[in-house]
Amino acid sequence: MASRPLTPRRPWEDRRVVLGVAGGIAAYKSVELARNLTRLGAQVDVVLTSSAKEFVTPLSFEAVTGRAAHQSLFSAGDSALHIRLAREADVVCVAPATANLLAEAAHGFAGDLLTTLLLATEAPVVLCPAMNHHMFRHVQTQANLEVLARRPGYLVAGPATGAMAYGEEEGPGRMLEPEEIVEHLGRALAAGPPWSGLPVLVTAGPTREPLDPVRFVGNRSSGRMGYAIAQAAWRRGAAVTLISGPTALDAPVGVERVVVETAREMQAAVAKALPGSRVVIMAAAVADFRPAATEASKIKRNGAPFEIVLEANPDILVETRRSRTPGAVVVGFALETGDLVTNAGAKLKDKALDLIVANDPREEGSGFEVETNRVTLLDQEGNTEELPLLSKAEVAERLLDRIEPMIGATGAASRTKGGRPRSRSR
Ligand SMILES: Cc1cc2nc3c(=O)[nH]c(=O)nc-3n(C[C@H](O)[C@H](O)[C@H](O)COP(=O)(O)O)c2cc1C
Repeated sequence: MASRPLTPRRPWEDRRVVLGVAGGIAAYKSVELARNLTRLGAQVDVVLTSSAKEFVTPLSFEAVTGRAAHQSLFSAGDSALHIRLAREADVVCVAPATANLLAEAAHGFAGDLLTTLLLATEAPVVLCPAMNHHMFRHVQTQANLEVLARRPGYLVAGPATGAMAYGEEEGPGRMLEPEEIVEHLGRALAAGPPWSGLPVLVTAGPTREPLDPVRFVGNRSSGRMGYAIAQAAWRRGAAVTLISGPTALDAPVGVERVVVETAREMQAAVAKALPGSRVVIMAAAVADFRPAATEASKIKRNGAPFEIVLEANPDILVETRRSRTPGAVVVGFALETGDLVTNAGAKLKDKALDLIVANDPREEGSGFEVETNRVTLLDQEGNTEELPLLSKAEVAERLLDRIEPMIGATGAASRTKGGRPRSRSR
């Protein structure tokens, strides 16, 4: 997997993460997880089971976290260690979560420091299973996972499917990569009203309009802006569907991605996902025109000029207007190379949008194929907010901050633990 940018700092600063490490092969990856979390600004308290120490030493964790790694329920001088760690935690993560650990947690066993603190904590718990695929598929492991996944405040993240240790064939049981686990933990820390469980639809990337089997008319959109928005909305707790044109990007963690090619395919996918979506952010650079004819075989050159006749593609925002959920917040993007505010303002009205994000790709650091963007936000009340040049991840956060108060009071309830609402601290 290509390396992903780590979650921006805000949710992590001084947050307390208890990282439980059980005795599986994937324990070596947990050292990197502990290092990543520490680099993001979290205080990471590692708790190892006695089997975990067969795979990785407490010293490795102490070296990357700068904090003591705990191994025993009965430690000299700190008789309430399990209660203290449980109480101080903002989130508890078990990675790897072995079959044994899952069985113990599902049945409420408290035979060591890690399982005891799992019973004592009120913080969200993220379990990252990792084991041989036969062990994972075993009916008892599946039953244990079902119990745990239903438990309020618990999240089972993964496993992925992939190569197994000992030359076994591929199957489900690989622990998620540390970067993906960081994303799940960031979400457990940041999720809250009005985003938790809120259905959000994002479009991203270019569309390709075929000319023949090998050529297409397209544009320079990389998809980065829409992907950053989808990831940021998911981190806040939203249930995100991302409809994406062809891009080179990995699917954002936790997001349901639907890949399409042409504008008409994107329109169909949007029409399907729109009912029920409470926030709709159309960041895709949909081709305005497509070749009027698509040749069945490759067009040959013969020395003469070749003319392409283009016809208009549907305007997805206009065409799907009637399928919008009443009260949904609908946000469009306007790419303009002149008279930015006037042109974007006209689009805002024509397409009945709540907000439009305008940018000029000719500006330094703006638009396609770059990591940054300088945008202006316009709303129906005529308010204009010019944002400075920011990373696309930061633009996404600022856009969601702007959308947040526009989301109606009927947003899905936040995930709570023991009935206690957890506020999103950002
Ligand atoms: C070499 C080796 C690798 C193992 N890898 C895993 C694993 O990846 N996942 C798992 O669930 N158990 C694995 N086990 C089995 C656990 O170590 C064993 O069930 C142990 O009791 C787990 O204890 P804990 O859950 O308290 O850490 C492995 C055992 C050995 C000897």
